[in-house]
Amino acid sequence: MAVRINPSILSADFVNMERDLQLIANADFAHVDVMDNHFVPNLTFGPQMVERIQATSLVPLDVHLMIEDVDRWAPGYAEIGAFSVTFHAEATDKPVDLARVLRARGARAGLAVKPGTPIDDYLDLLPEFDQILVMTVEPGFGGQKFMPLVMPKLEQLVAARKRHGVDVWLQVDGGITTETIAVAAEAGADTFVAGSSVFGAENVPDAIEQLRAVAASHQH
Ligand code: DX5
Ligand code: ZN
Repeated sequence: MAVRINPSILSADFVNMERDLQLIANADFAHVDVMDNHFVPNLTFGPQMVERIQATSLVPLDVHLMIEDVDRWAPGYAEIGAFSVTFHAEATDKPVDLARVLRARGARAGLAVKPGTPIDDYLDLLPEFDQILVMTVEPGFGGQKFMPLVMPKLEQLVAARKRHGVDVWLQVDGGITTETIAVAAEAGADTFVAGSSVFGAENVPDAIEQLRAVAASHQH
């Protein structure tokens, strides 16, 4: 199975974004954390900035929306050309309708769950999604500690994916390091977001390759 490493540009230098995007050319995707200061207690950037990141990035964008009103705002990120657009299950009552809109606009559709949100109610929706994001920290900030207690959700997703016979990517985000990526890969994750452990490294491309190697050696 494939391993995908998506550095989170939340840990990039916002005034040197072009330089930092060039540093992650060996990544699979650039993970873009959009926060509105309502869904989470932090604020990053919106469509105008993401459009410039899309034009500048050497790898496709994996947009993670930590915002309210996703029905209104998410489709615009697909229109900008993001490869994938992931919204939170807690932010909409109609996840399937929104996923269909995103796919119709040419993006892969992703569904994210906070650590406290069970995955049970979403397992039968897997065919409607291209990616499920299991948050391994409380969303809002980089540099937090990985929460191993959410790993059973990945095991549930692996079983549900098999049952439905679909190829949905299983993503983890928060506190991913060369140690914790092994735990997440063992549990079934294949797509790994890492912010501080990538941009905080001496050598960013090497950090990406190290994460990739550890994940690959722990996948089943
Ligand atoms: C947290 C964001 C993450 C964050 C991860 O709300 O969704 O993408 O950047 O940062 P680290 O890898 O430092 O935990
Ligand atoms: Zn994220």
